[in-house]
Amino acid sequence: MEKVVSGIRPTGNLHLGNYFGAVKSFVKMQNEYDCMFFIADWHSLTTHPKPEDIQSSVRTILAEYLACGINPEKAPLYVQSDVRETLEIYLYLNMNTYLGELERVTTFKEKARKQPDNVNAGLLTYPTLMAADILQHRAHKVPVGKDQEQNMEMARHCARRFNYIYGVEFFPEPQSFFFNAQALKVPGLDGSGKMGKSEGNCIYLIDDDKTITKKVMKAVTDNGPQTPNSPKPEVIENLFTFLKIASTPETYQYFDEKWNDCTLRYGDLKKQIAADLCAIVAPIRERIQEYKSNTDLLNKILEQGAEKARESAKKTLDEMRHIIGFKAL
Ligand code: TRP
Repeated sequence: MEKVVSGIRPTGNLHLGNYFGAVKSFVKMQNEYDCMFFIADWHSLTTHPKPEDIQSSVRTILAEYLACGINPEKAPLYVQSDVRETLEIYLYLNMNTYLGELERVTTFKEKARKQPDNVNAGLLTYPTLMAADILQHRAHKVPVGKDQEQNMEMARHCARRFNYIYGVEFFPEPQSFFFNAQALKVPGLDGSGKMGKSEGNCIYLIDDDKTITKKVMKAVTDNGPQTPNSPKPEVIENLFTFLKIASTPETYQYFDEKWNDCTLRYGDLKKQIAADLCAIVAPIRERIQEYKSNTDLLNKILEQGAEKARESAKKTLDEMRHIIGFKAL
């Protein structure tokens, strides 16, 4: 079975944009591939050298992914820093990666601009650490967002170059699996673009019904339909996208007809959206709380995940050492 690996940035709570994007595609892929997912805590040191309470943020992320339906029996979940084998692989990959190509990566240039006082070597070699994350499992597919395209290109370079230098066919070239391509893009509630943490327009999976309803009722609208069958402006189209995501086709059609004959009341539309979103989020929120209160279970899941990841990484590393010519350990 084809192998799938992906890393999760430990940056706060999941929102509906994450849920309908990355998380749903992970949940689907765990049934079709040999998957492993991990929390990329080493990578976060490139921008946050003194992270606050890593253990608790890792467990929060874990609880949220489990609550969304990741099954650790099918797709082991582990913490990046629990697998030391990655580091030796990272070292070998760094030896075959050139300064020029690392400096050309746009995320490096952006971050260097954002944190001019901390342009550290880890930031520069972010792509080789990511390549090590992937290649240590000799993964075939990597579900990522479009923003990771350049890092994925670097991972393929690493695989290809290792194979070429040592004259082997050892690493498969990992292919990106862009989940945003098929996923429904969840819009923001502020009438603009998409839902995103930095945009501050999110509904989180830990939001209670009251918070969700308040956020939806405050969503941006306009003065209402003026002429029958007119096209919807973007802010209204966005509200209808929420209907498409959360409600039944019949409900969508009901409000669409109201739009077309100019009888739509935005208050009713928003109430419907709020109720339907609450129905999706509430059971997830309850499961998050259950998992979060079961620290023993979370620790066990991470231990078992790390064990499987170490086993897979060690196998790759042993073969790499052999291919390069180092002695077996
Ligand atoms: N760079 C990815 C992101 O910012 C996170 C990540 C780290 C990752 N290592 C990975 C993703 C390996 C896929 C595979 O989202």
